[in-house]
Amino acid sequence: MALRNIREMGDDILNKKCKPVKEVNERTLDLIDDMFETMYEANGVGLAAPQVGILKRIVVIDTTGEDPIVLINPVILETSGEQTGQEGCLSVPGKYGIVTRPNYVRCKCLNENFEETIIEGEELLARAICHEIAHLDGELYVDRIEGELMDNAQLEKYLEEMEANEA
Ligand code: NI
Repeated sequence: MALRNIREMGDDILNKKCKPVKEVNERTLDLIDDMFETMYEANGVGLAAPQVGILKRIVVIDTTGEDPIVLINPVILETSGEQTGQEGCLSVPGKYGIVTRPNYVRCKCLNENFEETIIEGEELLARAICHEIAHLDGELYVDRIEGELMDNAQLEKYLEEMEANEA
């Protein structure tokens, strides 16, 4: 396993459409291992292959730190509900934005054994699935934000104001 370099916003590769994976070989498995290691090291909950410079439809997600999921060639089958909240991206370090996403997502994909699998998620997992699949089509969350991109201090202020409004 090895850490890979995370590409940052402004790098053209993040705006390209990724190609479907046709087979899982040793190199694919190495890539998946490296993506998990790179994601955990950066304290992320999801990472898509183009973020480490590989234009393939592969995503890794772990929203709890104990539930690693691999999505190869993922396709969203169904969404429902809505959630509005903060989102960040390892390719846009130190920044956050408010994005509305479905609250529930069901998608089909292949796992690391190249077997068809159904993945369902709610809340943070649903958000992560949508965010990461968008990466495979060259889309970043910053194009979907409501309001401005915020840094840490701005996000804290925003969350305080939200709380005050709810009280
Ligand atoms: Ni991202």
